[in-house]
Amino acid sequence: MYFPTKEIKNSAWVKDKKIYKQAEKNPIKFWEDLAGKLFWHKKWRKTFLHKPPYFQWFVGGKINITSNIFENNFLGWEKIKNKNALIWEPELVEEQSKTLTYNELFREMNRAANGLIKLGVKKEDRVGIYLPMIPEAIISILACARIGAIHTVVFSAFSPSALKVRLQDTDAKVLITSNGYYRKGKIIDLKKNADDGIKGTKVKKVIVVKHTDNKVKMKKTRDIWWNDLIKNQSDYCKPAIMDSGDTLFILYTSGSTGRPKGTIQSCGGYMVQAYWTGKWIFDFHQDDIFWSTADLGWITGHTYSCYSPLLNGTTFLIYEGSLDWPKPDRWAQIIEKYGVTIFYTAPTAVRMFEKFGAKIFKKYNFATLRILGSVGEPIDESAWQWYFEKIGKKRCPILDTWWQTETGGILISSLPGVGPFKPSFTGLPFPGLKTDILDEKGKSLPSNKQGNLVILPPFAPGLLSGIYKNPKKYLKTYWSQCGKKIYYTSDAAYKDKNGLIRIVGRTDDVIKVAGHRFTTGELEAAINLHPNIRECAVIGIPDKIKGEAIVVFAVSKSENVSLKEKRSPNIKEQIKKQVIIQIRKEIGPIATPKQVYLVRDLPKTRSGKIMRRILKRLFTPLEIAGTEKKRKKNKSLTGFTKEKLGDLSTLANPEIVEKIQRILKKSL
Ligand code: PRX
Repeated sequence: MYFPTKEIKNSAWVKDKKIYKQAEKNPIKFWEDLAGKLFWHKKWRKTFLHKPPYFQWFVGGKINITSNIFENNFLGWEKIKNKNALIWEPELVEEQSKTLTYNELFREMNRAANGLIKLGVKKEDRVGIYLPMIPEAIISILACARIGAIHTVVFSAFSPSALKVRLQDTDAKVLITSNGYYRKGKIIDLKKNADDGIKGTKVKKVIVVKHTDNKVKMKKTRDIWWNDLIKNQSDYCKPAIMDSGDTLFILYTSGSTGRPKGTIQSCGGYMVQAYWTGKWIFDFHQDDIFWSTADLGWITGHTYSCYSPLLNGTTFLIYEGSLDWPKPDRWAQIIEKYGVTIFYTAPTAVRMFEKFGAKIFKKYNFATLRILGSVGEPIDESAWQWYFEKIGKKRCPILDTWWQTETGGILISSLPGVGPFKPSFTGLPFPGLKTDILDEKGKSLPSNKQGNLVILPPFAPGLLSGIYKNPKKYLKTYWSQCGKKIYYTSDAAYKDKNGLIRIVGRTDDVIKVAGHRFTTGELEAAINLHPNIRECAVIGIPDKIKGEAIVVFAVSKSENVSLKEKRSPNIKEQIKKQVIIQIRKEIGPIATPKQVYLVRDLPKTRSGKIMRRILKRLFTPLEIAGTEKKRKKNKSLTGFTKEKLGDLSTLANPEIVEKIQRILKKSL
């Protein structure tokens, strides 16, 4: 267990653990006081209204998040307007980086907002944003917020099909995209993906940022270049006055079926949580350079690569490309080049840096770093220690931050000036947040007992206010397991005797690949769309770098395979390739499976339910068994006893388990 150094403690906004006790006494009052520090056009009449499962914070309050970032910033507009808001680092080493001061960003946002108005975008209209990590992505998000349009950002590496589903669900009429972007030195033609993705949607206008040199087709009546749209627009756009409960954005996250869920974030609560969690957890100060490596397509990107640092008047960095491109030391070079003071990344990245070895970044100076953060998946003790020693040089606290797309902002983490920092434990609930760990019957568990992590009223201001167009799903996913008054996180956790929480992992069908969230259901639905596949089962297996990796068991439709194909000796390999292409087509390259196994059948119950649990058990001992040599030596690891597999008597086809087991053994 570690504690803050004197230096960190001296400068931290919060130094005293008294804050937890104070907040606990009356969390509603606590959040009310924090919210009061921000700029409201009109104060709320009620701080927290609870009509389970729905709730609202700052009822009747009127705000605009962009006024809080710019002209009415808490720090004073005159103080911040000439400081850098945003630094953009391109992937191409030879390309110039860009910076935008708060004033410049303000102007760009206003012009883009006026451009959207010109295209007919009104308050509450949904605007799709399908952009790489370039300044226009931030400008687009802010422009929507300025006029009260609801942004729905789609990760630029998502496939056209994934884009389409999101645009259809939101009925977006406008999409903002770019002609392309760089990824590992290659130009990705994003416009082509956008063109494919908007087929069958209500998108009438496509705004295209010219970012790369590739030529793209522009459809005359539909497509408009970003520069043409904003060139004659006024430098000022009046902020839309938003109700605290109005929707700020919709962000999709994996659903249990093929369709993702649109989580809804409300203007008031989200803003308050984004501001204060950033300030206290990352300890934003005037001369900080904050770098969150998360893409804007994910919630971490929304909150900590955009809104939170901006609300805090902090300078932050966004980077277009891959952290290891063109060489594995790129991330280290960026830290040194800009003098990054706070670095926030995922355990997958930390493990990748560790794999490259400390040698590759030895020559870089990390003296500016003062705080390190981790997010998205559990960080194991050894990665934690490595991050702490090799990057933070034992000076920088590691803030392991637990939260979810649904929570809008960080909810569990240590505070840098208070600590403690305990490897692989995320820390304490944020002041004012009540959590518990419950057993299956809903009984609160003592320390060291693992159970379901839940959040109790009054929750936190940034917790999602609904699932877009799907109240049933909202109720079922979050408010049914422990009743309508307890938010069910779907994470298993336990706490130590000091109350520090350790997240063990998901209890549902979510797989976390490099911190990216997928469900087995959505991956299976994508694969099943392939005409040659009859059915499939997807599981997550442990992966040394990515945390988890995707493994597919697929059953092919032999009747759809042509005679010629059947005779081909490579037929199995071909079908496996088809599965990989299919998943990349439907979701994107980030969901590429590590292994595909073609099997005759899948283990199923008599009612036809696929038993993924059994597949997972079959696989796990092989994976963790280590090297071939070790496995051969230790036969028990490859010899699955019935006990290890659990009860097979409920299966309609228990014989298939052995067959799959043989296929697995052969492949390893
Ligand atoms: O299982 C938890 C894991 O990521 C899930 C939420 O994923 P997503 O909505 O994609 O948001 C990720 C970024 C906020 C959680 O239910 N998770 C997130 N942070 C941590 C974590 N697991 C362990 N430690 C964390 N720090």
